[in-house]
Amino acid sequence: MYYTTALLLANALYAYACPQHSNHKVSGALNKRQQTGEEFYVRPDDQQWAYDASYDWGSIDPAYELCQTGSQQSPIPLTLNQGLALTHRPTFDYAENITGNFYNWNYGAAFTLDHPEGEYTGLPAFTFEEGYGDSGRNETVYMTGWHIHSPADHTINGDRSRSELHYVHVDEEGHERVVLAILLDPSNDASPFFSQLPDMVSFNETGTQVPAAMNLRLALEEVGDLSEFWTYKGSLTSPPCHEGVRWFVGRQRLYTSRTQMKQILAVSRFAAREEQQVWEHEINV
Ligand SMILES: *[C@@H]1O[C@H](CO)[C@@H](O)[C@H](O)[C@H]1NC(C)=O
Ligand SMILES: *[C@@H]1O[C@H](CO)[C@@H](O)[C@H](O)[C@H]1NC(C)=O
Ligand SMILES: *[C@@H]1O[C@H](CO)[C@@H](O)[C@H](O)[C@H]1NC(C)=O
Ligand SMILES: [Zn+2]
Repeated sequence: MYYTTALLLANALYAYACPQHSNHKVSGALNKRQQTGEEFYVRPDDQQWAYDASYDWGSIDPAYELCQTGSQQSPIPLTLNQGLALTHRPTFDYAENITGNFYNWNYGAAFTLDHPEGEYTGLPAFTFEEGYGDSGRNETVYMTGWHIHSPADHTINGDRSRSELHYVHVDEEGHERVVLAILLDPSNDASPFFSQLPDMVSFNETGTQVPAAMNLRLALEEVGDLSEFWTYKGSLTSPPCHEGVRWFVGRQRLYTSRTQMKQILAVSRFAAREEQQVWEHEINV
């Protein structure tokens, strides 16, 4: 029952907020991050909110009320006591060589995938089961891009990783629907996923786009193909905090070399929203 209400509400908000969702090529039209969610460009002159003010986003603009009143807000603390997901297991269909643009979303490294305007179903996809019993169905979502938050948004048993990689997926109409989160920490060996990237772009160079081809599967392979994960019903982690977004958070971390981690951090600004209270998130349900 609640689920339906949340979805309707989310859809209504999307309808209001979305038209230019998917395309991140530089253009003056992409300046409304505060209305449309985290995968958008942020330009410092547009920004009405900041991560270090994330306790009080609801008071900045009536359009951000959900940041304060929502019952499925992200991120939330995750623990091993909650167990891991036994259902909703994703099946990935990611091509090995996809093209797009590497850039900085003003808070860290990011990448957006090439696709025809308004068409999403040709993008790398994954499928998972949503709903229960008679209302259960297989849902397919399409990846439009990824970006990095530092430090991580999600803690595990109170531990916060250095960074968190978000693979953002939309439904066939381009509404944000699933975020796949991979926690990043330094270790000894270089990560093949990060080794394939062009040189990092500074947070000060948000107008820079570097065309690049990459293998999106590498990050998954480096975390055991996401065989262990938490999943829950959550929201965007930036205003207006839309709900109706399902999160998948991998248990295994992706380890970079120390040099790679320093490169990631050097182009990052603080981008972790204050943790939210667990409420109607239906963790692993
Ligand atoms: C990946 O695709 C691009 C563009 O289609 C192509 O130029 C490049 O050679 C391909 N790389 C690999 C490793 O297949
Ligand atoms: C979803 O797809 C899987 C694999 O094809 C299948 O086993 C399952 O029954 C499907 N679930 C629904 C609700 O259709
Ligand atoms: C980023 O840009 C600001 C404003 O131009 C400048 O003051 C600052 O030194 C730059 N920071 C870095 C790390 O380049
Ligand atoms: Zn994010």
